[in-house]
Amino acid sequence: MSVGIAGLLADVPPRQPDRRAERPHPGAVAPVRPSPRPSFGDPLPCLTSAQQAAFAAGLEEFTHVETPAGGLGPIFNNVSCLACHGTPAVGGSSDLLVTRFGRMVDGRFDPMDPQGGSLLQQFAIDPAVQEVVPHDATVVAHRQSTPLFGLGLVEAIPDSAIVQYARRAKPDNVRGRAAVVDDVASGQKRIGRFGWKAQQATLLSFAGDAYLNEMGITSRLFPVENAPNGDTARLARFDAFLDPEDEVDPVTEKGDIDHAADFMRLLAPPPRLAATPSSRQGEALFGQIGCAVCHVPVMRTGPNPVAALSDKPVELYSDLLLHDMGRLGDGIGQADAGIRDMKTAPLWGLRASAPYLHDGRAETVDEAVRGHDGEAAVARDRYQRLLPSQRRQLLDFLDTL
Ligand code: HEC
Ligand code: HEC
Repeated sequence: MSVGIAGLLADVPPRQPDRRAERPHPGAVAPVRPSPRPSFGDPLPCLTSAQQAAFAAGLEEFTHVETPAGGLGPIFNNVSCLACHGTPAVGGSSDLLVTRFGRMVDGRFDPMDPQGGSLLQQFAIDPAVQEVVPHDATVVAHRQSTPLFGLGLVEAIPDSAIVQYARRAKPDNVRGRAAVVDDVASGQKRIGRFGWKAQQATLLSFAGDAYLNEMGITSRLFPVENAPNGDTARLARFDAFLDPEDEVDPVTEKGDIDHAADFMRLLAPPPRLAATPSSRQGEALFGQIGCAVCHVPVMRTGPNPVAALSDKPVELYSDLLLHDMGRLGDGIGQADAGIRDMKTAPLWGLRASAPYLHDGRAETVDEAVRGHDGEAAVARDRYQRLLPSQRRQLLDFLDTL
């Protein structure tokens, strides 16, 4: 792999028109949007003007291109959040993959922490610190970037709601387990819900993790720079900045990680399309064949200081639980997830997030469903036995989410 920073930097023009011009000015009084039809990348409706300003400041941080002079690296995967989260609008997904590695030792997953695992940093500010997959790694897996629309609502779902659903008896031998993770931001044990492995519980922790591990920017939550394949001496030669690199502004009391978290928290869920006769049939089938056992259509947020997030339905089509997915598991143990465990992927916004499954192996939704295994094998088999016309209806339904 190359050290293509110049290439990366050249590669970062916004991929879609800048929609900021359409947004009300942060100071504007009326929280009314000019267009009544919501689109991907909008803020939540009915924000106060202070919240609109926080969204705008967060958007700026999220799209900001980091450079080596500003603390990027020494090892990193890309130069901005937007680079991996920009389709079909800022805050979306991308087909970019990251690489994880590790090895199995006596039947247990070893993330090879001392050798810089389990996440590989693909790029470096100098060839001397380029990371590689160690020769003794026995597991190498890819993970696709996920969309971030509506994640404030997901964050606002109480831990207890997720745990309660995990305890319920389910048909088709489906189990499902709430991931218990250490939340760095609060210092508490929380129920994980973000990432393919439900490895993080809060957006602030995920933002800190992403700044460090995707861009090489240390913060108060993640103050220790990644050493290339664990080699701290090599790191020291190229790490010119005092940590933490992300400084907290004494006036706003916020750093980059806080702004990025604000942006994600206030980002609206994907806009749903109108139902059609075919999609209504498909919705019924989705329930009948057992998809909704894991892809739970709606959860609810608890009380929240942000009114737009408080006691709201969340139509995410996920139970946020870890399931043993058999052969579909990625072989990586992470946080509370074992090597075959994957979090039920939310299905909202599916029409705009191809390719599918954790490593993007499925070009179409149909392929993604056929790729299910383990606890989802019974539902998958029922899907495969549907009449072609019924499968069309089911896919039409998924296309409206
Ligand atoms: C190199 C590409 C890349 C960059 C840069 C990147 N991400 Fe991601 N992001 C990913 C991938 C891949 C995943 C899925 C990770 C996983 O589950 O292992 C992800 C997942 C996430 C999630 C979890 C979403 C969910 O559905 O649960 C959040 C939140 C997130 N990223 C925020 C950020 C923020 C904030 C930034 C900038 C600081 C950022 N990312 C930069 C690739 C990237
Ligand atoms: C046992 C729980 C379970 C059941 C039942 C289940 N799924 Fe899934 N689904 C998952 C998990 C876990 C993932 C993420 C898997 C991965 O990528 O490794 C997923 C991913 C998906 C994806 C890809 C999402 C994306 O963003 O890549 C689609 C589409 C999907 N499921 C549709 C369905 C349909 C349709 C059914 C019914 C036939 C179904 N699922 C039944 C757990 C389940």
